[in-house]
Formats: sequence, C-alpha cells, structure tokens
Amino acid sequence: MTSTDAAHPSNAGAAAVAETPAFTTASSAERDTAAPAGAKAAAAATAVPAADKAGSSKLGLLYMVTRGQPTNYDMLVFRTLNRELGRPNANADNLASRLRDELMPGRSWVLKHLPGSRAQLRRTLENPLWGVPGAVNFIDARTKWFDGAVTEALADGIQQVVIVAAGYDTRAYRLGAPGVRFFEVDLPSASHAKKALVEKLKFVEDPSRLPTFVAADLSRVSLAEALAGTPFDPSQRTLFTVEGLIYYLPQAAAAGLLAALSGLAAPGSRVYFDFMSQDALDGRGNFPGFKVTRKSVANKGEPFLSGIGPSREAVAAALAPHGLGLREFLTPKDMVGLMLPHESWSDRKPPIASFYYYAAADK
Ligand SMILES: C[S@@+](CC[C@H](N)C(=O)[O-])C[C@H]1O[C@@H](n2cnc3c(N)ncnc32)[C@H](O)[C@@H]1O
Repeated sequence: MTSTDAAHPSNAGAAAVAETPAFTTASSAERDTAAPAGAKAAAAATAVPAADKAGSSKLGLLYMVTRGQPTNYDMLVFRTLNRELGRPNANADNLASRLRDELMPGRSWVLKHLPGSRAQLRRTLENPLWGVPGAVNFIDARTKWFDGAVTEALADGIQQVVIVAAGYDTRAYRLGAPGVRFFEVDLPSASHAKKALVEKLKFVEDPSRLPTFVAADLSRVSLAEALAGTPFDPSQRTLFTVEGLIYYLPQAAAAGLLAALSGLAAPGSRVYFDFMSQDALDGRGNFPGFKVTRKSVANKGEPFLSGIGPSREAVAAALAPHGLGLREFLTPKDMVGLMLPHESWSDRKPPIASFYYYAAADK
C-alpha cells in the first residue's frame, strides 16, 4: 500500500440507522438527515467542507511534514516519536516503529539517521504558531488508554475484542492471550495490506494467533454484516474499540455505528471510543491547534464531520438510545492526569490536544 492508495476514514459512512441529536455535525450545510446505510452516507462523508480546505496553503511546516499521508500513517509516526525520544510519557507500542519502517522507508530513514530529526519533527508538529500543541502526547495518552481498556477487559474475562477502523493498531499482537480472539475491521485495501504486513513481519509465531482480518467498507455494509461469516460470537461479552474514527463520520453514521455496536454487544460488553468536542467544531472556546488540525485532515480528504457536547451528560445522551450506559468520560485534562501525570496543564499550550475527548460505555 502506498500513502496515496491508503484508506481514508472520510469514507466511513457506516450502518446509519437513526439520527441522534446528541451527535451534531460541523455545520448545517453538512447535515446528513436521513442517512440510511450506504451511498448517501458515503457521499456525505466524502464531501470536504469548503471552509475546512480554505487556507490550506497557510499550514506551512505542519502540512509539509504530514503531506501525502493518510491519517492512519500520521498516527503511526506520532506513536513512535516519544518512544524513540525516550520521553517519560511514551506509549508501550513496541511494534509501531516496525510498521512505520516498512510502510514509510524514506521518512523512517530520515528519522533514524538524521541527527535530531525526531526532536525537530516533534517541535514542528507541536509549535503553537503553526502546529498542534499536544499532538504527540495525544497519541501516546490515547494509545495507553485503549491499551488499558484491552488489558482490563481481558483481566475481567472478556475473550473477544473487535477493533473497529484498526489502521495500524498492534494490540492483537502485543496484548493477546490464549483463548482471546481479536477482530480487526478496516477498509478492504487497508485490511489486506495490514494482513500482508503483519505476516511478513511475523508479529505472531503461530498463525492461529493472528486476528481475524475483516475487510469491510462500513459505508456500504453494517458491522453486523461485516462480522457475519467470521468466528465472531454475538452471545459472548465483547470489547469494542473505536479509536480515531467517530469524528470523521457524519452525524447519523456516528449514531448508526453506536447502534450497530450495541446490537452486536452481549450484556457485559464494553465500547471505548474517542470523539471531538462539538464546541471546537462550532468555533466556541479556545482550542489551540484545532484550526490547523481541521485543515490538515480536510486536505487529506478526511474532514471532521461530527462532534459531541463535550459534556458527560451529552455523551450519556448519545449512548442512551442504544441501550449503552456511560462507563467512563474523560476530558483532555482528565487524560493528562491519568496518562501523562508528569505534565501540567496550560490553556495556552496544552500538553495534550485539547479538542479530543474519550468515553467508554457498558452494555
Ligand atoms: C485515523 S485512522 C485510525 C487508525 C487507528 N485506529 C489508530 O488510531 O491508529 C482511521 C481508520 O479508519 C479506517 N476506515 C476509514 N473508512 C472506513 C470505512 N468506511 N470502513 C472501515 N474502516 C474505515 C481507515 O482505513 C483507517 O485505518
């Protein structure tokens, strides 16, 4: 897979069934009112709001260092930085660098061989003038939080894990245990490429320990259809993770995804996801780096399309119609306290990107 043919989350329309007021779109012009599964949701999802793209040439260095890469490549590169720099907030993903080296040999060579290039890239990404303060820590904290969700679920006896929009997630290879079955759902191109890559890199010795790769475009098929014909067992308690996807879905598709997850979740199941502050999308409040991020992802054809609240009540209201109860709700500040305790909060230069929030639900 090359950076240009890689999967774009903006294509994820997904199994939309009902409109939930708690999820709101970026603007009324983008509103996706009916949004049944399929073409309409997909079409709505791929439309990049003009305002998001405008001014893209002003992105300067940030644009330069991430240009031509889909966001799942960006996530992968960001995930390696604090680790390779030996910073205390680094995540535990020891496989991310190997994936990066295979997928992006040129960029990896520069990072590995040009003295100071990792630190320079980090400074560029996080520069308050043109970058996103806390962008790298965000990926570290988020990675650690989702890792914790998997570890805790397995410790509590859950033996089935569905990773929606897996991208270059490595949890199946790092955190798996005998008897636990992982499913990695992604677009066909991304899924096939990932399977080939992890087989080539021999991430697991025993092929029977590989996850089930579910190649599905969720803008065309529901998650239930995607998982049909796989060993997925809806009668078993399941952990579902949705990392880095929901804000790329139109409003109805985001609600539809929650409905689909709930429909597949046996009692005792858990759903973990991150989401975008609706205040940031609406231009309310102070979110350093938000405009730059919004334009950067829109330039990649992956615009931000929906947000929530971001209050605890708004998340609970988004979950309730689907029979899901709020298990955990974290603001960016909460996340710093939990996952980056050596950092201290600053409104001007947040230690973690301040427009992403995190929530978990119980079925
Ligand atoms: C921003 S990436 C996040 C990847 C990974 N979860 C992470 O945090 O590194 C979003 C992922 O969603 C996948 N995706 C986008 N549209 C999709 C669709 N219609 N169906 C299934 N997966 C999709 C992309 O291929 C990509 O891997």
